[in-house]
Amino acid sequence: MLRVEGVHKIYKTGKRDLRVLRGIDLEIKKSETLTVVGPSGAGKSTLLHIMGGLDRPSKGRVLLDDKELYRLSDKKRAWVRNNRIGFVFQFYHLLPEFTALENVLLPALIWAQGFPRLRSGQARLKASLGFARDRQGSKNRAEYLLREFGLGERLRHRPGELSGGEQQRVAIARALINGPELLFCDEPTGNLDSSMGEEILNILFNLNKNNNTTVVVVTHDKEIAKRSSRVIEMRDGKFI
Ligand SMILES: Nc1ncnc2c1ncn2[C@@H]1O[C@H](COP(=O)(O)OP(=O)(O)OP(=O)(O)O)[C@@H](O)[C@H]1O
Ligand SMILES: [Mg+2]
Repeated sequence: MLRVEGVHKIYKTGKRDLRVLRGIDLEIKKSETLTVVGPSGAGKSTLLHIMGGLDRPSKGRVLLDDKELYRLSDKKRAWVRNNRIGFVFQFYHLLPEFTALENVLLPALIWAQGFPRLRSGQARLKASLGFARDRQGSKNRAEYLLREFGLGERLRHRPGELSGGEQQRVAIARALINGPELLFCDEPTGNLDSSMGEEILNILFNLNKNNNTTVVVVTHDKEIAKRSSRVIEMRDGKFI
């Protein structure tokens, strides 16, 4: 489903070039759960962002179903991200002024308003999969996801009124609102105690089991590595 070919990333800082990724090749199959581990600074987050269409490689290609992600226009790439890819970050990145429900709804609103010409074919496809795309349908789905994650009583809380684990569950619901085929998680349990971390893991692995969502996780958490179908170790911008 996703192929990374000869990817390099070089940051130019001052006089020296910082070579953060040095020739990454990777193939991710549909429905797998892949964990990327490695020491701090190895380039894990950089790789995740490049695979998810958030950051352009200096060299090499990323192919999603044989379409080259960084050859698409910015608008088309944004559309692919919105429609097919979900991101969960270590520090949640929720919008503080919005409620839990509004945070989850945001990608659906962008879907509905941001891509008038691109969405028609996909709309039909997803409608056939049961994704109601009107405002009420999206709201129902957002509420359903939050309830499923145990946040039925927190729909109108702002992020500042939620615990870390609750914020992370909101962030996962937000990543799922548009029914992504691919979910990228960067240290999703990094800031949670072990029981909350366990709960988040159950959500992620159930998602893979029940919906065939492909899940790629960057983590230091040995429990995640143990439960995933494949583990890759990174060091100094390469796989070892
Ligand atoms: N925008 C940037 N400009 C310059 N250097 C950067 C930039 N982003 C990341 N780096 C550098 O690239 C290297 C890899 O960063 P990255 O965030 O990918 O590491 P990581 O493996 O995710 O580490 P951690 O486990 O600490 O999150 C680091 O040395 C970092 O300082
Ligand atoms: Mg990182």
